[in-house]
Amino acid sequence: MIVAEIAKSKNDEFYTPSYAIEPIMKYVKPGSTIWCPFDTKDSLFVKEFENAGFTIIHSHIDNGGDFFKMTPPKCDYIISNPPYSLKTEVLQRLFKLDIPFAMLVGVVGLFESQKRFEMFRDNTFECMYLNRRVSYFKNYDDQKPSLNPPFSSVYICHRMLPRQIVFEEIHK
Ligand SMILES: C[S@@+](CC[C@H](N)C(=O)[O-])C[C@H]1O[C@@H](n2cnc3c(N)ncnc32)[C@H](O)[C@@H]1O
Repeated sequence: MIVAEIAKSKNDEFYTPSYAIEPIMKYVKPGSTIWCPFDTKDSLFVKEFENAGFTIIHSHIDNGGDFFKMTPPKCDYIISNPPYSLKTEVLQRLFKLDIPFAMLVGVVGLFESQKRFEMFRDNTFECMYLNRRVSYFKNYDDQKPSLNPPFSSVYICHRMLPRQIVFEEIHK
């Protein structure tokens, strides 16, 4: 499979702050099990959802958990911030798995490639738009997120949000 042969991209190494995780939490049913497939134990997706009482299964390519090769664990949701260089392939696999999911992705160009145009046209999805841009950590040890992409991030969801577009505020 082509995807499995794509080398890990340096541009994929940025990490999500807690304030960007909070808005998706209220759409997750209490007692759920969540798979975070692009996350080590240091990920704030893992920490925030665990602190909120959810059961988390996390996996990451560095620990032998290649998302494209893994059989999905039994879970109610798949939630993360995926490697942006593979966002089309990630979303394609998620739609095929048909487990409710939320993926935080950059909005720029999201609907512009023919492949993604067809994928979004042919699948059921919802979008969460945030009032401010998300800044990301370069390193989990950093005190503050210092990477400021010049575009907004949105959650692309499947069978998670009550409407096709939902607006949420973040508190940086
Ligand atoms: C944008 S980062 C986000 C990390 C984490 N989800 C967060 O928000 O803090 C995406 C991560 O996915 C990892 N990754 C890349 N390809 C992967 C794959 N095929 N399977 C699992 N993880 C992968 C990258 O190494 C990177 O650490």
